[in-house]
Amino acid sequence: MLDRRSFLGSFASVALLARPDRRIRAIPAPAAGPAWPPPVFQDDESYWRTLRKEFLIPADEAFFNTGTLGCMPRVVIQAVADDLNQVAGTIAHWDYKAGHPDYIAGYNPETDLRTALAALIGASPDEVALTQNATLGMNYVANGLPLEPGHEIILTNLEHPGGRMGWELKSKRYGIYVKQVAVPVPPQDPQQLIDLYVNATTPQTRVWSIPHLTSGQAIRFPVERMCAIARERGIFTVIDGAQCSGHFQLDMKRIGCDAYYSSPHKWLLAPAGSGFLYITSDKLAGVWATLASATWDDYKAGAYRLMQVGTGNRSLLKGYAAAIEFHNRIGPARVEARIMSLANRLRDGLQRIPQVQIHSPVHPELVSGTTVWSLAGWPAGDLMDALWSRSKVRCRSMGDPMGVRQCCHIYTLPEDVDRTLETVRRMAGERR
Ligand SMILES: Cc1ncc(COP(=O)(O)O)c(C=O)c1O
Repeated sequence: MLDRRSFLGSFASVALLARPDRRIRAIPAPAAGPAWPPPVFQDDESYWRTLRKEFLIPADEAFFNTGTLGCMPRVVIQAVADDLNQVAGTIAHWDYKAGHPDYIAGYNPETDLRTALAALIGASPDEVALTQNATLGMNYVANGLPLEPGHEIILTNLEHPGGRMGWELKSKRYGIYVKQVAVPVPPQDPQQLIDLYVNATTPQTRVWSIPHLTSGQAIRFPVERMCAIARERGIFTVIDGAQCSGHFQLDMKRIGCDAYYSSPHKWLLAPAGSGFLYITSDKLAGVWATLASATWDDYKAGAYRLMQVGTGNRSLLKGYAAAIEFHNRIGPARVEARIMSLANRLRDGLQRIPQVQIHSPVHPELVSGTTVWSLAGWPAGDLMDALWSRSKVRCRSMGDPMGVRQCCHIYTLPEDVDRTLETVRRMAGERR
């Protein structure tokens, strides 16, 4: 059984990760720092129980709304706080020179962080731009692709506004045609989803904009197969992976998309305001910058060209780096397996309650860590509120008739799932 002491045993301090500039006086790291997960995985519940203590969510509360914003582990919070302290405490030591290795103002290609992120998603650092979130990533692609009036882009009727409005703007301003395909909820199999895009495609189609996992219905699209089909037809593919980094293992080259954007402040447990945009190297030069500062037109700079946002918050990036490290130390495959096993436990339990309807898919290729479900007689908002007031289970209402969205993650314990099921069984038995 791992205790907190052994958990704390093998730490590298977050200060190491923050890599303060040697010319700047380093603020000492806190004596009892926060924890990295144990380096050797123990495939038993005690590992996850110990890990649970690294999250500030009180033990009697179960948080299931990672689809909106994930909960940062202590080590991430600490990395941000340490760097804020470092910058504020040593700001006068900072000599403003070109090429400074640790530029405090945000004008920096952030090569280390982009390298870590690229390794996590199977890309090269030059292909990855840091953005604030998925919304910025999608807008950079929509705005930056040189499309002409009459060109078509295909997307679904289930996009989050952050995955759609960039196209709507482009349509209104430049006359491109945005074609929405209507997705059955839930779809029965992956081929249904592929057929929707294939059947809507015409000689004018230039882009397939595909959600990897839809926000409100948790439908996982077969992006690998879809990108292969689009590639054969010379169609540009851009994937909305807002819900996917830190959730599924990602490999850009295996997916074969031209562009992919995400919000690691959800499932990767990075600080709010952490995003990325991947564009494959051979398509990168074909995407115009949207925001321009010093390096917007330097095509040798790779995706850094798309990070020209002016002064930013370097400390958040330290937290972003810590979140990647935390995730890697557990192992992306283990994270995904744990998420899926908890979500399957939840789905199995819900399926045994006759008054429950599951609206997210149940086909094994279309499922994820997120389940969307409703309970007969309970409007979505009431259901969300009752789960919280009766058992401190925090889900998110998705409105009627969808019910609530429940995302399992590594801070979920099996008893949190079981508590949900027990509460729902009781509620199902009540007359309303
Ligand atoms: C599928 C999807 N796309 C885009 C977004 C927008 O993400 P952000 O607000 O982090 O830009 C979300 C947010 O929930 C989402 O679920």
